[in-house]
Amino acid sequence: MKDWDALYEECIHCQKCGLAETRTNVVFGEGARDAEVMFIGEGPGEQEDRTGRPFVGRAGQLLDDMLAMIDLKREKVFIGNMVKCRPPQNRDPLNIEQEACIGYLRNQVALIRPKIIICLGRISAIRLIKPDFKITKEHGQWFEKSGVHMTALFHPAAILRDPSRRPDTFVDLKGIQTKIREVCTHTYR
Ligand code: URA
Repeated sequence: MKDWDALYEECIHCQKCGLAETRTNVVFGEGARDAEVMFIGEGPGEQEDRTGRPFVGRAGQLLDDMLAMIDLKREKVFIGNMVKCRPPQNRDPLNIEQEACIGYLRNQVALIRPKIIICLGRISAIRLIKPDFKITKEHGQWFEKSGVHMTALFHPAAILRDPSRRPDTFVDLKGIQTKIREVCTHTYR
């Protein structure tokens, strides 16, 4: 396991998969290094690739609204992605790309030691919660792995495409708020 600075250095120079050839910036993730709550998306989009920051495009604005609904400040959580370089045309990251990248995320989780991990969308839920995860059925449900409480929300981009997912997501967010009150100790207000 690497410390934060060594991990960051390795990650931003990574050439482990083909996405290195087409990226503008590596999106390492951002937020508190002692965050109790981590949000894990799929991979950077166009704005994220351009800026090097996670969830700053349209989906990111919705994520900010979702955080605000449950009084979570962006700087108090950690926001990262399954793959840290943009897949061309925002296609799903390939397994081989996810395999190449997952070690960075595992190292980040080991350093941050979050109490709660929230998967944004099916790609991270399948990889982090269980391989047969069904986002339409299992969003908002809680799973425990190695003492970490885990759940998944519809991906903000999927909510933008299909606003009928909003009411369910609101319920899931309230469940996250309850879980935070149960298991977290930091102040969020
Ligand atoms: N979608 C993601 O999954 N991650 C980002 O950082 C931005 C959009």
